[in-house]
Amino acid sequence: MIILGINAYHANAAAAIVVDGRLIAAVEEERLNRVKYAAGLPSRAIQFCLDRAGAKLTEVDHIAIPRDPWARLGTKLRYAARMPRFALDRLRVMKRFAGIREDLAAAFELAPEGIRAQFHRIEHHRAHLASAFFVSPFERSAVLSADGLGDFASFMCAVGEGPRMRVLGEVAFPHSLGMYYTALTQYLGFWKFGDEYKVMGLAAYGQPEFLGEFRRIVRAHGPLAFRLGLEYFTHQTQGSDMTWRDANSTPVLGRIFSSYLEKRLGPARRPEEPLTARHHNVAASMQAALEEVLASCWNGLARESGEKNLCLAGGVAFNCVANSKVFDAAPFERVFVQPAAGDAGLSVGAAFAVNHQVLGRPREFTMDHAYWGPQFSASEVRQVIDSASSSGDAEIADLDEAALVEATAVHIAAGKIVGWFQGAAEWGPRALGNRSILADPRRPEMKDILNRRIKHREIFRPFAPSITEEAVGEFFEKTHPSPFMTFAYPVRPEMRAIIPAPTHVDGTARLQTVSRSANPLYWKLLRKLGNLTGVPVVLNTSFNDNEPIVCRPEEALDCFRRTQMDVLVMGNYVLEKKSPAIAREEPGEKFAKPAK
Ligand SMILES: [Fe+2]
Repeated sequence: MIILGINAYHANAAAAIVVDGRLIAAVEEERLNRVKYAAGLPSRAIQFCLDRAGAKLTEVDHIAIPRDPWARLGTKLRYAARMPRFALDRLRVMKRFAGIREDLAAAFELAPEGIRAQFHRIEHHRAHLASAFFVSPFERSAVLSADGLGDFASFMCAVGEGPRMRVLGEVAFPHSLGMYYTALTQYLGFWKFGDEYKVMGLAAYGQPEFLGEFRRIVRAHGPLAFRLGLEYFTHQTQGSDMTWRDANSTPVLGRIFSSYLEKRLGPARRPEEPLTARHHNVAASMQAALEEVLASCWNGLARESGEKNLCLAGGVAFNCVANSKVFDAAPFERVFVQPAAGDAGLSVGAAFAVNHQVLGRPREFTMDHAYWGPQFSASEVRQVIDSASSSGDAEIADLDEAALVEATAVHIAAGKIVGWFQGAAEWGPRALGNRSILADPRRPEMKDILNRRIKHREIFRPFAPSITEEAVGEFFEKTHPSPFMTFAYPVRPEMRAIIPAPTHVDGTARLQTVSRSANPLYWKLLRKLGNLTGVPVVLNTSFNDNEPIVCRPEEALDCFRRTQMDVLVMGNYVLEKKSPAIAREEPGEKFAKPAK
């Protein structure tokens, strides 16, 4: 039984394949076509999934599309009557989805009737809910999805048991926590698609001075809903105006905050303007108001479901700062967030929704790691290394596993910046130890060095740590697993000086807890660092420089050469640059001493 899930014609285009009830592969199109947040038909991602499953498109039994243009038709028609442009947009979307069989056939050079799969349309938020619950370790759980907008809704919650889910409530357009966050992100001068996480990082610098005003902008409304103060927004009168020029473009979103918002909060920040305390406080107030609304919804959901487990999905589930408040603000004990909680994850969700809710098959799969993307054989890596050796700009060593782990740990402890390329690429936007850039978390200057030499990103944004799951309680105030970097916990006060580089200004860190079973090699590297320095923690940032995370060995080598990275560890090979582009920035004794 082969089920292909496809998130198409929408940002974060992606594909996933489920064979006999188990996920075999999943990847975002952006990793393969190298266009950030790529929309369109993810034909490369589909091809990869088929290859991993050893199947042809003609052999697929079911194709699951996480979009139902007919959902909430009455509400859509009411808006269409008021907004002609909105009506045209809806028609365009419906036409696109109606033609997906033909588009697929054209992309794979088949006659449309050659695709024998049955097509299923799974409503957007039901696919989000499925993407979390059906791959979670929970037999029973409350489930919550929150995002900008999908199929004209922005929020849905449910209770799941075994292969079934029962929806308890939803919130439809124009009320949306995702739109709220996006509007304020724009107001603060960040206009690129996906910039919301930057503002989440900025919030830690401020105080929620404007919380009173923000409670008028967004507020809880009953146990399982919320409302926006619509006068602060424009999307309800002018549409959300999200566009992508073609299949290989990053989406662009038009302005969705109103002039009334500026009247109340002061003028919007222009992108080139410096960030001031007022901007920090706006960000902090926005985050605080979001957390208040979410806490109300979590508690409503806990009461109505009676469950102790919670699964989160949708773009809002990437708000790791809010997620970490669940344990204090609501009676949930265990929380699962799928690594691709946003719209890429819809491909997984739609496929599992078909598997369980359409076909009635039992659950037999748990997503206990994130490594569902492309991987490359030793000979493919070797070929790329051979091309590097011919240029002669790096020392190359071919090591067995123990020596590789030892050499990598020594480089990191010595303050070098190490590209780490191993195994299968991560599913979801976080690098989780297979396509990562690693550095010493003990050195307070490491954040600046990484920014200056490689990442070139806003200085206020934090870097994240990976830590062995065994050591979490020693360094953090909470110990609930965070295998996919979807929680930010307070670092224990006495440990903040020990791992200053990934500790954010508010004393928290967005951690990845690493288990031996999920990623044995990365876990061994962390253990080795622990033996060497007393700190089984590494600063882990994605392996890229203002581009999608590297996927292929060639891209890793290119990024290594193009940036001022010191060392590349790829497969069994360690490449060390012979002459760094700039003089080594010796930290001397500046870094914090090990804990023990
Ligand atoms: Fe969504």
